[in-house]
Amino acid sequence: MVVIITGASAGIGRALAIELHARGAKLVLSARRLGVLDQLNATLGGAHLAVGADVSQSSGCDRVVQQSIDHFGRIDTLVCNAGYGLLRSVAETTTQEMDQIFRTNVFGTTECIRFAVPHLSKQDPQAGYRGQIMIVSSAAARRGLPYFGAYAATKAAQLSFAEALRVELKPMQIAVTSIHPMQTETDFFTVSEQISARRLPPPGMLAKRQSAESVAAAMVRAMETPKPELWPKRGSHWLLHFAAMFPRIADRFMDRERRAIEISLRRRRAEGK
Ligand SMILES: NC(=O)c1ccc[n+]([C@@H]2O[C@H](COP(=O)([O-])OP(=O)(O)OC[C@H]3O[C@@H](n4cnc5c(N)ncnc54)[C@H](OP(=O)(O)O)[C@@H]3O)[C@@H](O)[C@H]2O)c1
Repeated sequence: MVVIITGASAGIGRALAIELHARGAKLVLSARRLGVLDQLNATLGGAHLAVGADVSQSSGCDRVVQQSIDHFGRIDTLVCNAGYGLLRSVAETTTQEMDQIFRTNVFGTTECIRFAVPHLSKQDPQAGYRGQIMIVSSAAARRGLPYFGAYAATKAAQLSFAEALRVELKPMQIAVTSIHPMQTETDFFTVSEQISARRLPPPGMLAKRQSAESVAAAMVRAMETPKPELWPKRGSHWLLHFAAMFPRIADRFMDRERRAIEISLRRRRAEGK
């Protein structure tokens, strides 16, 4: 089984690579930090392919897919996982910030898919599928978050694309699965802080984070038996359904998060940080 993982240098992508390696998969490890990928590949025995690529550039997505085909001759699963968060209110987010986050999280997904589908659709089916596309969206796809509005919008866009693609690609026997993690222990929060030049408050009401390894293990199960959506955190699917049905109640919960973020931002401004 050949699996491309974008964003394999850290967090969920890295944990997924380790889990799949243990099961004998051939991996295409991709991210911008090629040195980190080379190190990971060496740790895993060196038989995988590391491709340095920035998915916010169409040429980066093209290179990952083409090098996978040149090296392994097929792609069984494409995991579009690369992404980051931004801590900004919607009204403060600049056009450049919007552009960059959509280029990475959304177009970095759709471009990899655009380049991969012609190859997947020509492969012989195995266990009923010619291939699978996994899109790592978020629980935030179903509910915008205060100060993470642009990020949540990219995750909602990924979910929308996954829903359309699932139906479009079914006749080609290509499975599509969207993944909706929530509060996972990775570099995501520190990277968001660095990019936003702001600190997050200590984790609030949904504080208990799950491990990247448990998300990766659930993703592997969804490769063995493809399903439309995967919500790795127990109860999160129902929580988000509830939020959609009762938006006023959800707003009240979210308002607590907004206040916590604003208090933290004001405190840090007062401290001159
Ligand atoms: N952690 C959470 O709580 C959580 C919750 C819901 C959804 N998610 C989603 O899960 C996915 C993985 O995030 P994570 O939590 O594992 O965060 P992470 O530890 O920060 O990993 C992010 C990965 O994306 C790569 N990446 C970022 N920008 C890139 C670009 N322009 N081109 C190529 N690769 C890029 C990074 O590698 P380089 O820096 O080397 O390029 C890194 O490997 C993201 O899509 C995120 O939105 C995370």
